[in-house]
Amino acid sequence: MSEEKFLVTGAMGCLGAWVVRNLVREGVETAVFDLSSNKQRLELIMDAAEIAQVSFIYGDITDTEAVKTAVSDHNITHIIHLAALQVPFCKANPPVGAAVNVVGTVNVFEAAKAAGIGQVVYASSVAVYGRKDEYPDRLLPHDAPLHPHTHYGVFKQANEGTARIYWQDDGIASIGLRPYTLYGPGRDQGMTSTPTKAMLAAARGEAYHISYGGYNGFQYNDDVAKIFIQAARTPAEGANVYNLRGSVAHMSEVVAAIEAAEPSAKGRITYEEAPLVLPEGQDDAELRHLLGDIPHTPLADGVARTITHFKQAVADGRLAKTGEESI
Ligand SMILES: NC(=O)c1ccc[n+]([C@@H]2O[C@H](COP(=O)([O-])OP(=O)(O)OC[C@H]3O[C@@H](n4cnc5c(N)ncnc54)[C@H](O)[C@@H]3O)[C@@H](O)[C@H]2O)c1
Repeated sequence: MSEEKFLVTGAMGCLGAWVVRNLVREGVETAVFDLSSNKQRLELIMDAAEIAQVSFIYGDITDTEAVKTAVSDHNITHIIHLAALQVPFCKANPPVGAAVNVVGTVNVFEAAKAAGIGQVVYASSVAVYGRKDEYPDRLLPHDAPLHPHTHYGVFKQANEGTARIYWQDDGIASIGLRPYTLYGPGRDQGMTSTPTKAMLAAARGEAYHISYGGYNGFQYNDDVAKIFIQAARTPAEGANVYNLRGSVAHMSEVVAAIEAAEPSAKGRITYEEAPLVLPEGQDDAELRHLLGDIPHTPLADGVARTITHFKQAVADGRLAKTGEESI
């Protein structure tokens, strides 16, 4: 066992489960903090012996004392903060979205401060940016002006500001990472989850209509998880925020990758032509400058791996016929 002990908030979620899987497979002590006790995403990608190595702390990220206690009682050395409510949930209930996404992030920094932990890594989002027609560049540089057009994006922007003030006032360094569209096993909720739902449909031999089109950034869960861990181990100065790039691709390329991996899906996976209003992709030069080599699974490989994983999970009963989206 290493000297490291990670706390991952929101670890029952899609990205958190992959972060936990990577840490456990490295032999790193891992504690998770989540409101949910539903281990379905962990069970989708880890075996029972691996899950048994994880310390589970059930609590609400909006509860300052609960977050502080989780950090101080478990000798935490590294924090990866992912707990959040996604775009549709924030739209449906902005006060709760603000409490979880904004107050929750303040609580994580408070807990780090109380425990003397000098660095926090947290998930921001491409949603901090404006519409694509507001920018001259097709791929946004990490310092492009922020102009979010959803509550969720505004909350993520607030978190980037929170991180800046904790560096200014308390010397707590941070690395915020801005994913675009995560895909892969476990991506079952949120506005951009429909490409992965199409991969699941293909694995089940079902038809599926993806809810949007155009060009987007696609990032394989496992790559993003490894990048978050790499960032947590990279000593930072200041409050830094970086774009993630992944694969910038048109939805037709996602569909082609699904058909290549599962030929029986040909003609059965369709997509809405209308693109998201967001920029077509992000430039990650600054992140590469900080971290050096970062994992990048090409889109076709990530899609093929996802479908193979889903097929296995459907066959062995880990994904009920009613759909993992029922989580
Ligand atoms: N999925 C994407 O494409 C994407 C893109 C950009 C940014 N992000 C960000 O990355 C992070 C991880 O995303 P994800 O796709 O894994 O999200 P997810 O919705 O799958 O998981 C979020 C987790 O947070 C937990 N949570 C919610 N409210 C909580 C509360 N009050 N207290 C404690 N835990 C709570 C949920 O139970 C869940 O396990 C989030 O911060 C998200 O905003 C995701």
